[in-house]
Amino acid sequence: MRKPVVVLLPGDGVGPEVAREARLVLELVAPDVEIAERLIGAAAIRAAGDPLPGETLSVCREATAVLKGPVGDPEFDAADVRPEQGLLRLRAALDAYANLRPSVWGDVDLLVVRELVGGLYFGASGVRDDGTVFDTCEYHPSQVERVARRAFALAHTRRGALTSIDKANVLETSRMWRRVVNEIAPEFPDVSVEHMLVDNAAMQLATTPQQFDVIVTENMFGDILSDLAAAVTGGLGLAPSASLSDSGPGIFEPVHGSAPDIAGRGIANPTAMLRSTALLLEHGLGRTAEAQALVRAVEHALATSPTQDLGGTAGTAEFGAAVREQLALTAA
Ligand code: NAD
Ligand code: IPM
Ligand code: MN
Repeated sequence: MRKPVVVLLPGDGVGPEVAREARLVLELVAPDVEIAERLIGAAAIRAAGDPLPGETLSVCREATAVLKGPVGDPEFDAADVRPEQGLLRLRAALDAYANLRPSVWGDVDLLVVRELVGGLYFGASGVRDDGTVFDTCEYHPSQVERVARRAFALAHTRRGALTSIDKANVLETSRMWRRVVNEIAPEFPDVSVEHMLVDNAAMQLATTPQQFDVIVTENMFGDILSDLAAAVTGGLGLAPSASLSDSGPGIFEPVHGSAPDIAGRGIANPTAMLRSTALLLEHGLGRTAEAQALVRAVEHALATSPTQDLGGTAGTAEFGAAVREQLALTAA
């Protein structure tokens, strides 16, 4: 069998800092896996004039899985070519439509399933002669169907409660979304379906997040609600994600961004990146035991060696070392 290849895309800002810890952990728990590092985002614009150089994309296409740090740099905020375009192109090219964003904290255990390659992010956009600027939200029923089916299947393996979030009181795309979700529901008789409007969902997430099991929603709502879910479950430093297609490599990355306000100081919490590495071990490499060991080691480090965002004092590297130490102890 061909050796598994993980493409590591460190990205920008705190990306390289947290990616370093992920690499060290991966080398420890999966020493047979080849790690190929490539550029994406601002780093790639600087080196190659393109946020997703052709070579980065072709290596990702051939990989077993992609482990990615955040992209984005204030230097390019007003530029035509932006770091984030590299990420959006990568998601689209790999058809990584099912974005799983789990949050586990106290009595909360929820999973946001965010549609990732459609909606406002990928609809027609432009400027009209009169100066009007537009972005359009478009969905084909098949795009809703496949992400909804994933979400139902995931709910089936969990507590069997699916909440579909939309804005069906206003948007055509949401009314179609709701209809398609209802059409799929009979395939999963043991999963209950509730529809919730997105504004109420934000309030419910902020006040009683423990009511949710699996949430399924479109791209933009999912972007916003997953930051909110992270905020009420320990913060952005903790939230990982897996972006899966029906075939081909998944992309595993933190929910958070490049955190320019703390970049370069060695204080970013690498938990989101390490939990993304655990999702990669599970979903990308099928190594459930290693994934679980990593999740437990991160849990231990959070309790014994918390970073500043959690009120502790550990730096990024110190936290990573605590995780590896625990992994070595439990493997022995
Ligand atoms: P952000 O997520 O980078 O930061 C928001 C706040 O959370 C900041 O105060 C930051 O310091 C804190 N934070 C984030 N990650 C942390 C960590 N690991 N440890 C401790 N604190 C952490 O959001 P932003 O400032 O709005 O965005 C910055 C850049 O990141 C933008 O260019 C944006 O486009 C990009 N971005 C990229 C991704 C991605 O690549 N997937 C995701 C989100 C944002
Ligand atoms: C995320 C990010 C990205 C998104 C940006 C950087 C394009 O915010 O992964 O949540 O909006 O999808
Ligand atoms: Mn986001």
